Amino acid sequence: MNKSYNIIDHQYDVIIVGAGGSGLRATLGVAEAGLKTACISKVFPTRSHTVSAQGGIGAALGNMGEDNWKWHMFDTVKGSDWLGDQDAIEYLCSNASAAVIELEEYGMPFSRTEDGKIYQRPFGGHLTHNGEGVPAMRACAAADRTGHAMLHTLYQQSMKHNVEFFIEYFVLDLLMDNEGKCCGIIAWCLEDGTMHRFLAHQTILATGGYGRTYFSSTSAHICTGDGNAMVLRQNLPLSDMEFIQFHPTGVYGVGVLISEGARGEGGYLTNSQGERFMERYAPNVKDLASRDVVSRSITLEINEGRGCGQNKDHVLLHLEHLDAAIINKRLPGISETASIFASVDLTQEPIPVLPTVHYNMGGIPTNYRTEVLSPSKSNPDNICEGLMAIGEAACVSVHGANRLGTNSLIDLLVFGKSASNVAKEKVKPNSAAIKINSNSTEEVLGRFDKLRYSSGDTKTGEVRISMQNIMQKNCAVFRTQKLISTGIENFKNIETSLENLNIEDKSLIFNTDLTEALELQNLMAQSKVTLHSALYRTESRGAHAREDFTERDDENWLVHSLVWLDKKGTVQLGNRPVHMNTLTNHIQSIPPKKRVY
Ligand code: FUM
Repeated sequence: MNKSYNIIDHQYDVIIVGAGGSGLRATLGVAEAGLKTACISKVFPTRSHTVSAQGGIGAALGNMGEDNWKWHMFDTVKGSDWLGDQDAIEYLCSNASAAVIELEEYGMPFSRTEDGKIYQRPFGGHLTHNGEGVPAMRACAAADRTGHAMLHTLYQQSMKHNVEFFIEYFVLDLLMDNEGKCCGIIAWCLEDGTMHRFLAHQTILATGGYGRTYFSSTSAHICTGDGNAMVLRQNLPLSDMEFIQFHPTGVYGVGVLISEGARGEGGYLTNSQGERFMERYAPNVKDLASRDVVSRSITLEINEGRGCGQNKDHVLLHLEHLDAAIINKRLPGISETASIFASVDLTQEPIPVLPTVHYNMGGIPTNYRTEVLSPSKSNPDNICEGLMAIGEAACVSVHGANRLGTNSLIDLLVFGKSASNVAKEKVKPNSAAIKINSNSTEEVLGRFDKLRYSSGDTKTGEVRISMQNIMQKNCAVFRTQKLISTGIENFKNIETSLENLNIEDKSLIFNTDLTEALELQNLMAQSKVTLHSALYRTESRGAHAREDFTERDDENWLVHSLVWLDKKGTVQLGNRPVHMNTLTNHIQSIPPKKRVY
């Protein structure tokens, strides 16, 4: 059945899709410049997933020990297993301190040192003296609720400006003109069921990651990578989708995050023999090795029979040796989490933990100016006009094959601001109205209608759980050709049921049945390209650990993967070069070497 919709039209200079940390930072910057700005979000801004970030924001302020942005850059390049673009990493690390000070001036309630400076704690993979010195105190923290404090600060600042927020609007798709330029988006207002077309000179996607492709994830249920899927539907590629970060310490059984800040404050892991096993895997920094290393070590301990509990399927995180007053002051959030989700008083007993999906290093390829790339054979850095991407949705790529803890929040701030600067450069306030010369509106509504009136016999939740189980099993911490290929085969079986969904509720007002189905379509596209990208990369690098290709292979694989998904569901794979050059001559590029901690 086809239904026509009364479309409400809007014209803006710049629109931002998503109101998490990066979306709000970009919104603030664009609005400050007097550009007509709309921020469109499927949830109330302060419910965006940034709110749950715990441990800190990475910046070499040096408040609590010597530090230097160049050491931060070294650690980030090494953490990325040399897959990060070094021009973008230089941009990130050299702008990090100013971004944090700016946030402080916006009113962010950071924890403080005795002398009133921003409190900083150590975090995995952050060291001094280009990896040769002691751990760096680099994570700028508001107790263990840093994301919460940051998101509220940015939202409050945005409110000072003339931003129009469209809250609880589900963005269906991008609108592209016949020349391939992005002209805006179509969104469905969940509250009153109306359809809206937002036309703008620049569209900034800040739509977050796709952690909910997995069964056990620290990501909120809203993390369905909607922007990534919209990009795929325009036959634009995603990049480095094989790199899924497992956070070492999700609460066993539920996957809720226990911040790495816990180990930063002195916590440590043990196996069933009471052994501090990280001493074997990372003799120098032990429990403060990077996340991929710690997650693999835990998995190996369990696989080799040294897991804890009746089923020998987790390890223990100890904080009970720390001063309870410090725990109350620095880690109040995880104390609550441990009590609610593991029934543990962490001042008395250890917390059972297990690696849990936490972050997507891959996403929409951009340059350090946050312009979306549409790579061609002749120009791998070719730009898609009118479209930008930031935050976890984007693959800038500063995190490469493995992100260091705290580098996400700083990425949101630095590249959120960069997006607003570039938008200011490209768009003049109150620019002429956009007219779109394609029939993309009809195409988007056709897809929406097809799903809305789908009356097959499969429930959205059934397909979602099957997809999550495949990803959890076949695209896990350790991978092999056989395991991933089985995942791809099993995925084919559930893919067909997407055509056969039963949407019982045909209404347009707060229709969670339909919203979840739209999100499922987005998740399925990303699961598929993740599986294919994981099979494609025949080496081990960062978070991508292939048991059949155990070594890093710089000769063949020091490249970003690219993946396209056409309308028929066919996957195409390709590469683009890693930027090994720095942005300025303030620092030399960092040549690849063996990564040990
Ligand atoms: O462990 C954490 O607090 C998470 C931080 C991050 O992912 O950056």
